[in-house]
Amino acid sequence: MAEILPSILSADFARLGEQLGVLEQAGCRMVHVDVMDGHFVPNITLGPPVVASLRKATRMTLDVHLMISDPDRYAPLFVEAGADQVSVHQETCPHLDRTVRMIQGLGARAGVVVNPATAVDTLDEVLGFVDFVLIMSVNPGFGGQKFIPYTLDKVRRLAARRRERGLKFEIEIDGGVTRDNVGEVVRAGVEWVVAGSAVFGNGSPAVNVTQNFSELREQARAAGLVRV
Ligand code: DX5
Ligand code: ZN
Repeated sequence: MAEILPSILSADFARLGEQLGVLEQAGCRMVHVDVMDGHFVPNITLGPPVVASLRKATRMTLDVHLMISDPDRYAPLFVEAGADQVSVHQETCPHLDRTVRMIQGLGARAGVVVNPATAVDTLDEVLGFVDFVLIMSVNPGFGGQKFIPYTLDKVRRLAARRRERGLKFEIEIDGGVTRDNVGEVVRAGVEWVVAGSAVFGNGSPAVNVTQNFSELREQARAAGLVRV
């Protein structure tokens, strides 16, 4: 059941439309879009107008990851721009129940993200109605960082809780996934695997995005859980 979600943060932003086309051709179904505000995380990326352009360029699911201090204010603008699903950080939402329901009320799927140092226990009360949970496997802000191994235990605990309670949410992971660890990640219970630099490399035209994407998907398949 695993999907590889290329993160466009590592792509060449001047060739985004072209790169989306290449991925779609390769059978990619979901794309991960990182929104950073230079406040919650020490980096700035893109806003709703870029998501609106991506929406026009592709039919793939747009998975928008909000790393911003005020998601309540901006999430509606991203849904309006064409995001299919929006995730907000637990650390930025004092009224998480309200925020998740607001996103769902706008017609998008809603996810909650936890940083590496935030316990999955903090999500217990919302697990019954979130559409997905995103476990950060690096500290958010940049592509190309090293995978933090203890975050896999969080995935296992979350997957166990989902089983015990008979719940339906998907589990996503983000940061430092490569061909070497994607199998382990899928076996731990992840359905949606974000991969930035492992797909786009350094963003140069010489990088074979199709090959990188396909190899990752192959590894995930070898781990036994990919939809074929
Ligand atoms: C990190 C972002 C990630 C990033 C992942 O803050 O949320 O989505 O693009 O990039 P890699 O796969 O290179 O770690
Ligand atoms: Zn992300």
